[in-house]
Amino acid sequence: MKLESLKRAVEILRAGGLVAFPTETVYGLGADATNSAAVRRIFDAKGRPSTNPLIVHVADEKTARRYAAAWPSEASGLALRFWPGPLTLVLAKAPLIVPEATPGRYTVALRVPDHPLTLALLREFDGPVAAPSANRSMRISPTTAEHVRQELGDTVDLILDGGPCRVGIESTVLDLSGSTPTILRPGGISREQIERIIGPVDLFAGAVCPTDAAASPGQHPIHYAPRTPAYRFEGEMPVSEKDERFYFILLGKDDSLQRFSLDRAVMPNMPDEYAHHLYSVLREADTSGKAAMLIELPPDEPQWLAVRDRLTRATRPLP
Ligand code: TXA
Ligand code: MG
Repeated sequence: MKLESLKRAVEILRAGGLVAFPTETVYGLGADATNSAAVRRIFDAKGRPSTNPLIVHVADEKTARRYAAAWPSEASGLALRFWPGPLTLVLAKAPLIVPEATPGRYTVALRVPDHPLTLALLREFDGPVAAPSANRSMRISPTTAEHVRQELGDTVDLILDGGPCRVGIESTVLDLSGSTPTILRPGGISREQIERIIGPVDLFAGAVCPTDAAASPGQHPIHYAPRTPAYRFEGEMPVSEKDERFYFILLGKDDSLQRFSLDRAVMPNMPDEYAHHLYSVLREADTSGKAAMLIELPPDEPQWLAVRDRLTRATRPLP
């Protein structure tokens, strides 16, 4: 069964079609990154602005090198330590990748995802697969195959079901194309983990300050947005816990998702566990029928950077 769908997935990619696939972060919507028409179909299916560049997925470092014009020593060190895994490297691009995948740029974002099914697909396809998250543009990223069906339905030729995503939020995007390595989007691999391998890295202001413009498009303030108006708060609860207008997403006191009733979720107090559940809880809250959601931000500490980034982009401060 799995072999059958893998074979079909490879055929679809070769024919210029769209395949949604699981990764350890979120589900991706993939097309052959050497085929302009195929890549254009991704933008159509998502309703994504054609100026927003895509991440190119490959099976291993050796394959990644084919699509980068230069391979600095930092890339080798990081690939050795973190690939397959939730780290995307932005590097000078080789001409094999079509311009549609990297609109207006001389760089390409490359990553090796950590999921057995998708690694098998990439090995078998033996080429680069351009893939953004498999959601409609500006919506919450999918972490199950069912989410992908809800988001994209028939516009995808095939959805590979690899179960729920382990990490649950998108990869860290690290730009190695300039003079100082810079994190453009915090994610599954932390700044500290990266610095242990290559020394000090910068954090692009837009990656923490939600009012800044975009060096990495898709990093604008309201992104990953639920349909229900979503507000955030820090510290003391600004309204009564019984206020029926809100779906509450609160920070819990242990590392499990404690309660998940009709009007609230109490989230794990560990960043990895929190990230793992975040998008499915946001989806659940979005269908609760409540007028708004009210989300408690975790503390402003380095280990919460990626989660706070996503929450800040999904919410506004409570007026
Ligand atoms: O975890 C992930 O990264 C998921 C899975 C499917 O791999 N993919 C994902 O793709 O989140 P997407 O398209 O939703 O986000 C890609 C991010 C965007 O913020 C985009 O601007 C940035 O990567 N990006 C892509 N190419 C870039 C480039 N050449 N230079 C700077 N930023 C780039
Ligand atoms: Mg996305």
